[in-house]
Amino acid sequence: MMNENVEKDILILAIESSCDETAAAVVKNGRTVLSNIISSQIALHTLYGGVVPEIASRKHIEKINQVIEAALSEAGVTLEEIDAIGVTYGPGLVGALLVGVAEAKAIAYAAKKPLIGVHHIEGHIAANFIENQDLEPPFFALVVSGGHTHLVRVKDYGQFDVIGRTRDDAAGEAFDKVARAVGLGYPGGPKIDKAAREGNPDAIIFPRAHVEEAPYDFSFSGVKSSVLNYINGCQMKGEEYSQADIAASFQKAVTDVLVEKAMHAAEEYHVDKFAIAGGVASNSALRAAMKEACERRGIRFYYPSLVYCTDNAAMIGSAAYYEYINGTRHGWDLNAVPNLKLGER
Ligand code: KG4
Ligand code: ZN
Repeated sequence: MMNENVEKDILILAIESSCDETAAAVVKNGRTVLSNIISSQIALHTLYGGVVPEIASRKHIEKINQVIEAALSEAGVTLEEIDAIGVTYGPGLVGALLVGVAEAKAIAYAAKKPLIGVHHIEGHIAANFIENQDLEPPFFALVVSGGHTHLVRVKDYGQFDVIGRTRDDAAGEAFDKVARAVGLGYPGGPKIDKAAREGNPDAIIFPRAHVEEAPYDFSFSGVKSSVLNYINGCQMKGEEYSQADIAASFQKAVTDVLVEKAMHAAEEYHVDKFAIAGGVASNSALRAAMKEACERRGIRFYYPSLVYCTDNAAMIGSAAYYEYINGTRHGWDLNAVPNLKLGER
């Protein structure tokens, strides 16, 4: 006989297609990943030096069914056993998002399951729940990805205050542009991270931008231009420049600002738990600097494994679970919202 006090497990099938990874996952009770399938298009876009939206959409269409089937079979569950379908519906590339949203709606409709649209950044933050069973709101999060740089106060599951954001380039975007300029190619973040290990972070002083009267806002276009000017200057003078020194010095300039603002907020808001999230959260210098800064202040520091930093569907499954518990349900009119704001429904 079933014990009525034992709550039933909630299984979410999650889909993510906002940029250049086609991903599906099955997540149990928001914290246990039963499968996490990612089909990356990086090799394809590398040919063009960046993500080509039209190609991304077409590849998503080609891959999405097999990625979902693989997620279900690796998890060892059938579609009937799934409790709800979670899908990223923004922000991101509209054509890419639409593939995931249309697929999720079709599956949810055919299998008569609830549909839950998830904000991509909410997913990135939730990536921290997967390996940290003790992490619960309230806490602070620094979300640094290819498209976003957000300092977020996580008040509760699904409840956010964005207290700072970038005024121009996102942190990851700056990594990608600088990598291209120094000849490291795409995707820039991991390549700068690797090259920087051989370089001197104090070799070149690049600017640390501060936004007047907005202590938690970021700006990365200045440091990016400064790197480009430095390279042009060397080329005009016929001087050689060190890729490794530029990578290390640029990385230091960016991480210094990220950590300083994060810690300023932590002190101001008396934060005792701080998490990082997004593709740039896999940067080794940023992880080390945040860990050190948090430890010095007695703040518990949380960070996802590398596979949960960059785009994946497990993080969407975790976020979708908490939305499911909170009662969020989307209708068949759910659409892709390329500029969806965090906290909007
Ligand atoms: O979260 P993500 O996979 O996609 C977006 O939501 O944008 O982040 C991708 C970004 C890219 O800009 C990539 O260069 C950056 O994350 N990235 C890194 C590293 N790994 C990925 N940036 C710095 N260091 C890394 N190790
Ligand atoms: Zn992302």
